[in-house]
Amino acid sequence: MMMTAPQRTIRVWDIPTRVFHWCLPVALIALFVSADTYAMELHALVGEAVLALVLFRLVWGFVGSQTARFRDFVVGPRGIADYLAGRAPKSLGHNPVGALMVLALLGALLGLAVSGLFADDGIFYSGPLAGRIGNAQAVRIGELHAAGAYVLAALAGIHVLATLWHLLHRKRNLITPMLTGRTRTELDAPPPVFVGLPLACGVFTVAVGVVTLLLHGLTF
Ligand code: HEM
Ligand code: HEM
Repeated sequence: MMMTAPQRTIRVWDIPTRVFHWCLPVALIALFVSADTYAMELHALVGEAVLALVLFRLVWGFVGSQTARFRDFVVGPRGIADYLAGRAPKSLGHNPVGALMVLALLGALLGLAVSGLFADDGIFYSGPLAGRIGNAQAVRIGELHAAGAYVLAALAGIHVLATLWHLLHRKRNLITPMLTGRTRTELDAPPPVFVGLPLACGVFTVAVGVVTLLLHGLTF
C-alpha cells in the first residue's frame, strides 16, 4: 500500500505579491473597457498604475519574499525539461513552466504600459510622452500598442485556463493560495522566508515616484 505523506498548511505567497496579482485582472478589465469607450484619461491613469505595479514587482523579484524572487522560480531549459519529464523535485511557489508565463505576462504588461505613454491614436488622444517623438512614430507605436493589448489578453486567457486545468485535471488548487497566501503541502521543505511589509511599501512608493517623475518630470 502506498503511504501518502501527511499534509500541513504553510504560508506560500506574501501580501504584496497577492495584492499585486489581484490588481491585474481588475486593471485589465478597466483598461479594455476604458479604451473601448474612449475614456482615455482613465485609460492612461490605470495604465500608469500598472506601470508602477510592474516596476514594483520587478524589484520585489530581487528583494522580496522567497517565493516572489526570480532566483527562486526562474530556471533554464534543462530545469523546464526535467519538470516536464517529472524528474524535478517538487517545490513551493511557481513551477518552471508557470514561471515562463509569469515572465511573459510581466514583459507584456511592461511593454504595453511603456508603449502607451508614447502612443497616439491618430484621432484625438495621445499618451503623455508622445510629443517627444515624431507623430508618425507615435501613431505607429499606437498601432503596436493596440495589437499588443490583444497578445496580453491572449496570454492572460491561457494563464487563467492553465490554473483551471490544474484545478480540474490535476486536482491542484492554485487559486486559493493566491487569495489566502496559504497552501496545503506534503513537502517537508523549510517554510519560505518572508520579507516584511514596510519594505514592500517603500519599494512601491519609489515605483510610484519613478513613474510620476517620468511623466511629469519629462513633460514640464
Ligand atoms: C481571474 C483571473 C485570474 C486567476 C484565477 C489567476 C490565477 C493565478 C494563480 C493561481 C497564480 C499562481 C500560480 C502558481 O501557483 O504558480 C497566478 C500568478 C500570476 N498571475 Fe494570475 N490569475 C488571473 C488573472 C491574471 C491576469 C489578468 C494577469 C495579468 C494580466 C495575471 C498575471 C499573473 C502573474 C504576473 C502571476 C505571477 C504572480 C507573481 O509571482 O507575482 N493573472 N495567477
Ligand atoms: C498594461 C497597460 C495597458 C493596456 C493593457 C492597454 C490596453 C489598450 C487597449 C486594449 C487599447 C485599445 C486597442 C484597440 O484599438 O482596439 C489601447 C489603446 C490605447 N492606449 Fe492603452 N493600454 C495600456 C496602457 C496605456 C498607457 C499607460 C497609455 C498612456 C498613458 C495608453 C494609451 C493608449 C492609447 C493612446 C491608445 C490608442 C492607440 C490606438 O488606437 O492607436 N495605454 N490600450
